[in-house]
Amino acid sequence: MGESIRGLHRTCRCAEVSRENVGQTVTVMGWVQKRRNLGSMIFIDLRDRSGILQLVFDEESAGEAVYKKAQTLRSEYVLAATGQIELRGGAVNESLATGDIELRVRDLRVLSESEVPPFPIEENVATREELRLKYRYLDLRRPDLQRNLILRSRVTQEIRRFMTEEGFLEIETPMLTKSTPEGARDYLVPSRVHPGSFYALPQSPQLFKQLLMCAGYDRYFQVARCFRDEDLRADRQPEFTQLDMELSFVDIEDVLDVTERLIADVFEKTLGVKVPLPIRRMTWKEAMERYGSDKPDLRFGMELVDVSDIAKDCGFAVFSGAVQAGGAVRALNAKGQAGMPRKHIDALTDFVKGYGLKGLAYLAVLPDGSVKSSFAKFLGEEEIEALKTRMGAEPGDMLFFAADKSKLVYDVLGALRLRLGAEMGLIPENEFCFVWITEFPLLEWSDEENRFMAMHHPFTMPMEEDFPNINSDPGSVRAKAYDIVLNGVELGGGSVRIHMDDMQEKMLEVLGFTKERAYEQFGFLLDAFRYGVPPHAGLAIGLDRMIMLMTGADSIRDVIAFPKVKDASCLMTAAPSPVDEAQLKELGIGVTAAAEPAPEQN
Ligand code: AMO
Ligand code: AMP
Repeated sequence: MGESIRGLHRTCRCAEVSRENVGQTVTVMGWVQKRRNLGSMIFIDLRDRSGILQLVFDEESAGEAVYKKAQTLRSEYVLAATGQIELRGGAVNESLATGDIELRVRDLRVLSESEVPPFPIEENVATREELRLKYRYLDLRRPDLQRNLILRSRVTQEIRRFMTEEGFLEIETPMLTKSTPEGARDYLVPSRVHPGSFYALPQSPQLFKQLLMCAGYDRYFQVARCFRDEDLRADRQPEFTQLDMELSFVDIEDVLDVTERLIADVFEKTLGVKVPLPIRRMTWKEAMERYGSDKPDLRFGMELVDVSDIAKDCGFAVFSGAVQAGGAVRALNAKGQAGMPRKHIDALTDFVKGYGLKGLAYLAVLPDGSVKSSFAKFLGEEEIEALKTRMGAEPGDMLFFAADKSKLVYDVLGALRLRLGAEMGLIPENEFCFVWITEFPLLEWSDEENRFMAMHHPFTMPMEEDFPNINSDPGSVRAKAYDIVLNGVELGGGSVRIHMDDMQEKMLEVLGFTKERAYEQFGFLLDAFRYGVPPHAGLAIGLDRMIMLMTGADSIRDVIAFPKVKDASCLMTAAPSPVDEAQLKELGIGVTAAAEPAPEQN
């Protein structure tokens, strides 16, 4: 049931009126947030995407019919109300932008009614996320989500403006494409016309943007949807959006420069936050050594310290054994935590065991200077002193040690540092701490595949000075690759691309591609490179992640209108779902796995 909108014209949004409009007649339209009856008056909070305006009905100004209608209103009814803006008769509501005014209603239409919603439409509701996602259209009415999506829209607009002014062309690349060698699993789309053949949805526009450089477009950008069939986390979705760019006739500096000016511009214009430029740079090696992570959160210290030299010959076999086996012993100083209860230490030990470390050695420096430790009995006085000095330990401090292969030690302490930083309240909120991570390794050894894999992708340029070692010591070659990191989150990444065919051939050889396989997968790129390719480089920023960090949301789900959940399904539409036998037949597809029943829809 609902009345027609015919002949009515909305004059403004709810929160677009203020004291300055007192005396004016306006028509607003929106949803009933709540109704209060106060004897001879009825108050309605009317909500639209701009905010809330209080409507007031009294029988005298509204007339009997409108007043009666107002008595029937319930939450989420959709109204059109016309009347005069007045200063509030009652108390001013400081929490509302329109808290000092109200609309005295003369005319009211109920455009539609609403059932009782399954959860209250309010900011910060404690409703389970599954329920919110099932009724996402209601969830999206909540002011916090509306703010997030409104900011997202403004950011995208600002990106387009900035990039266009910098001479970038916005060019769309295909969604139905060929599998790209980018790392994650592809989403495949069957072809009806070519039974048995499949398109892949793009994991990124990587190859196409390189081809656009070959084609002379010089500076390209796209707000590009990407698809990756990988395990989901708070900052990962199967489909997500990149601000993708590529530039010709450039080297690293040019890409970093335009990207950081873009970021500074967007943060300033949309949040009013000044990002000091240039953004700090750190090599991958330094990031690993100091923070145990290639996406360090620099909002706090508690850096890793290498104590391998002290531990190498000590009497504690866990330490000396690790170093002698080619690994390392590194440690963290949790300042002031010497009094940490046993239970807490056990919880941290379980935490590191989750990463595969065998245990977590600790040494507490008690206020009187004596030590309490899980391993000190194996060490001499001098060794303990040396550890304390190296760690800058003062009375009251707690030292945690990890001993194993270097990579595991980094991973464990990197994660432990973040956990302790959070537990100890060391991480300031509302601070944006950017850092460029540069000089990534070109290759990464994969135990699984028993070969080197490209850390970024196979088209990434090695650092010129390292390239001669590509055969003798592939693991030592650094790449012209970079990531932009914000508050411990990888915001974006990119690289200078190889544009010399001999170097590209060498790379593919080191990666174990046969010529045939390389041609089968991306022969079109290799072909294109034979016809004059400019030196080029690029980068992609994860737009969802950037908005998540800008809004302070905990998950990228809160900045995506219709996100998917952990198992990559959509709780609202119940996608993915089985399809008709006829549809499959037309595609020439037989399904061997028993199709799971679609999640229930209601
Ligand atoms: P990369 O794979 O590093 O680079 O992706 C760039 C950025 O995209 C974001 N991102 C994601 N966001 C949400 N969900 C996901 N599943 C997801 N995966 C990645 C991250 C990441 O930093 N073609 C290259 C870029 C280039 O070299 O120019 C690429 O895609 O924020
Ligand atoms: P254990 O000799 O196994 O009783 O271990 C003595 C202490 O060393 C305990 O606190 C363990 O948690 C810790 N420990 C064991 N393995 C490691 C390791 N690889 N790195 C750091 N500490 C460890």
